[in-house]
Amino acid sequence: MKLVILGGGGFRVPLIHRALLAERGEPRVTDLVLYDVDLNRLTAIRHVLDQQAALEPGVAIGVSVTTDLKEALIGADFVFSAIRVGGLEGRVIDERVALDLGVLGQETVGAGGISYGLRTVPVAIEVARLIAELAPNAWTINFTNPAGLVTEAMAAHLGDRVIGICDSPVGLTRRVAKLLGIDPATARFDYAGLNHLGWLRGVYVEGRDHLPRLLDNPEALGSFEEGKLFGADWLRTLGAIPNEYLYYYYYAHEAVQAARTATQTRGAFLLRQQHDFYAETQRDAGTALDAWRRTRAEREATYMADTRDIAGAGDRDSDDMESGGYEQVALSIMRAVARDERTMLILNVRNRSALSIVDADAVVEVPCVVDANGPHQVVINQLPAHAAGLVGSVKAVERATIEAALQGSRRAAHKALALHPLVGSVTVARRMLDAYVDHFPQLSYLR
Ligand code: G6P
Ligand code: MN
Repeated sequence: MKLVILGGGGFRVPLIHRALLAERGEPRVTDLVLYDVDLNRLTAIRHVLDQQAALEPGVAIGVSVTTDLKEALIGADFVFSAIRVGGLEGRVIDERVALDLGVLGQETVGAGGISYGLRTVPVAIEVARLIAELAPNAWTINFTNPAGLVTEAMAAHLGDRVIGICDSPVGLTRRVAKLLGIDPATARFDYAGLNHLGWLRGVYVEGRDHLPRLLDNPEALGSFEEGKLFGADWLRTLGAIPNEYLYYYYYAHEAVQAARTATQTRGAFLLRQQHDFYAETQRDAGTALDAWRRTRAEREATYMADTRDIAGAGDRDSDDMESGGYEQVALSIMRAVARDERTMLILNVRNRSALSIVDADAVVEVPCVVDANGPHQVVINQLPAHAAGLVGSVKAVERATIEAALQGSRRAAHKALALHPLVGSVTVARRMLDAYVDHFPQLSYLR
């Protein structure tokens, strides 16, 4: 099979390649094409892959790199879209502009995510159009953040053949299963919401919900990531385990305060780190894999350090660092589709009738069984009122963001920012939009 990675010069590509090398069943990926706008980054990643492949003799994956999108897509069986429009430099501006106005600038949650979405949607739509034209039989797996809204924009052209993924629900369900002493493969997780805005409400094994057992045990609750982050007491109050990104909502005040006083934002940290990695690899290609491993370990160890610091949650559990996240979810989808192996995964797909709070075409994050026909949602419970309210608000924000991109409408972009529950002011929203448009040439389409 031919797999194309858009954003093929990106730092996480070696994780996918490593997972592909470990694949044993058939059919499997024999032809890996890395597409990127930046040839230097492609070359650096190519060195990492070559060195990684040399450690796995016997497995042959042909790797090629290109900066020609059309050439890359022709004949693709699978497309992984992992692009970052505006680069990490853009992420830093998303963060800074918002924080300077006292608002969270995170890349997926709140104003930062809207700015990032406004830059990304026009490109994602163009990519989706090209896939529909040049590789109509391909399945597209969208990694590009903000994943929910980008997947929804792409679905207008690709329908059910685009699937958005995130590793945070997998991480959450795996941690909870471990605490409950349950094999995650035997459980049905009642998880629902939007990307980075979901709640685990039940863990069923043989028809019995085991989550209450955890919620009734403050000691166990306090011992794992979400318990440390949100506080055992708050989890008991909610009666559910929220996705870790909900920290930005439940502790909005603290999160903004901390981000404003921090020496650097996540984006600024990563910008420097990535710059060093690509520069080092360019100077000395021989150490590419070592440099990549070192850089990656440092990145994982500091993942969400901001929220963990405020919560006093301490270091992340070492089990969690080798999360086997994104790449494993993507490969599970690929296996399920290509080999018709039924697999249960939490994915970003069109709602149909899963959640009554949003319409059928809204992309939601829900459990699905995947097989050769793609993802099929399983029956889940509806969201409780508070969660439904947030999901409804944030979906309206996502819709306004997509509308802004499709119509070139500055009014819709302002509406998206102003309606976001973490912005809280029409005036601040307008100031942010003006600043984002000033900074980003990619936003000059907003009239
Ligand atoms: C998690 C999230 C992703 C995010 C990633 C990296 O896996 O689910 O959406 O891209 O973390 O975060 P970082 O801050 O390291 O770029
Ligand atoms: Mn994610």
